[in-house]
Amino acid sequence: MKALLLCGGEGTRLRPFTHTQPKALLPIGYQPILFYILDALAETAIREVVIIIGPNGTPIRALLQQTNPWGFKFTFISQPEPLGLAHTVLLARAALGDDSFLMYLGDNILAEPLRPLIDRFTQEQPDALLLLREVKNPRDFGVAQVDGARVRQVEEKPEQPRSNLALVGIYLFSPTIHHAVSKIKPSRRGELEITDAIQQLIVEGKNVAYHRITGWWKDTGTFTDLLATNQYLLKKATPAQYGTVKKTPINGVLALGKGSSLKNCLVKGPVCIGAGCRINGSVLGPYLSVGDGVEITNCSLSRSVVFAHAQLKGVTLINSILGERVEISSAHRKEEPFSLLVGADSILRF
Ligand code: DAU
Repeated sequence: MKALLLCGGEGTRLRPFTHTQPKALLPIGYQPILFYILDALAETAIREVVIIIGPNGTPIRALLQQTNPWGFKFTFISQPEPLGLAHTVLLARAALGDDSFLMYLGDNILAEPLRPLIDRFTQEQPDALLLLREVKNPRDFGVAQVDGARVRQVEEKPEQPRSNLALVGIYLFSPTIHHAVSKIKPSRRGELEITDAIQQLIVEGKNVAYHRITGWWKDTGTFTDLLATNQYLLKKATPAQYGTVKKTPINGVLALGKGSSLKNCLVKGPVCIGAGCRINGSVLGPYLSVGDGVEITNCSLSRSVVFAHAQLKGVTLINSILGERVEISSAHRKEEPFSLLVGADSILRF
C-alpha cells in the first residue's frame, strides 16, 4: 500500500505564517507538522509516499530530499491550484497505479496508530474505510451518516448536518475510488470534493466502511487548532539536555537543544527549545515551543510557539505565534499577558 499525502493548498487561514512557508512545515511542538505524519506512516508497512505540493511547496521537496530518516521513497506531484482533494487523486493516478492507498491530509494529526486500520482494511477489503469522530461543530467538516457497519451518506460541510460524525482527514481507498473520482463534478466552491467521490461509491452500492475514533485528533487549520496541537504534542515530549543551564529551576519536562543556554530563568514544562538559543532572565512555559537560534531576554512566555531566529525582549505573552526572525521588544514590561500573532521578519517595539 502507498500513501497519498496532501501538502498542497494555500493555507490561507494560517496567514501570515503560510506566506513564508507551507503549512506542513510549520514547526509545532518539537518538529514540523509533516514530520509527525511521516513518523506515523513509518510505523506501518507503507514505504512509498506520493506527496502533493502546491506552488509554495518547493521547500517540502528540498527538505525531504535532504532528510529522510524514515527511508521512504517519495514521489512529488505539483498541484498548481488547490482544485480539491479529489483533484489530487486524479493527479496522482499514475503514481498510485492499481494499488489501494491511504490518503492523508497534511494538516491532520491523529493520536491513534495507523497500522490497525490498515490491517482491518487489508482483511475486510471494503472499497473505502473512513475514520469518523464525533465533533461539536460538524458544519466545519465532511459529515457522515452511518447505518450499522456501513456509511450511508457523506456531505461536505453541510449547512444542516444530519449527524455529528466528522470525516477525519485520513482515508483508506481501494482503486475503485478512481472511477468514482472520474464521475464527479466540481462543487459549489469549485473544488472536486473527495466527499462527493465517496458519495459516488455509496450510490454505486460499494462497501464504504468506517472506524470511529474517540481519541485526540486535530485538523490544524486555524491558529487555535495550531496552539491546541502544540500543547498536545508538547505533553508527549521527553526530557533532553544538550545545552547549558545556570541558576534555573526546572519543573516538568524540558528539552533543550545543542548549544542553547538558559540563565536565571524559571522553566515550567513542558518546554521544547531548539539549538543555539540564548535565554536569560525569563519564565518559560507551560507549553512553550522555541525554534533554533532564538534569543529571549526578560520575558514570560506560555502556551506559545516561537519560530527560529526570533529575538524577544521584555514581553509577557500567552497563546502567541511568532514567525521566523521577528524582533519584539518592550521598554516597559507588563505582567499582564497578551497574545500576538506576528509574521516572519516583523519588528515590533513598544
Ligand atoms: O480535516 C478533515 C476535513 O478535511 C474533512 O472533514 C473534510 O471533509 C475535508 O474536505 C477536509 O476539509 P478542509 O476544509 O479541512 O480541507 P482543506 O481545504 O483545509 O485541505 C486539507 C489539506 O489538503 C490541506 O493540508 C491542504 C491539502 N489540499 C487541499 C486542497 C483543497 C491539497 O493538497 N490540494 C487541494 O486542492
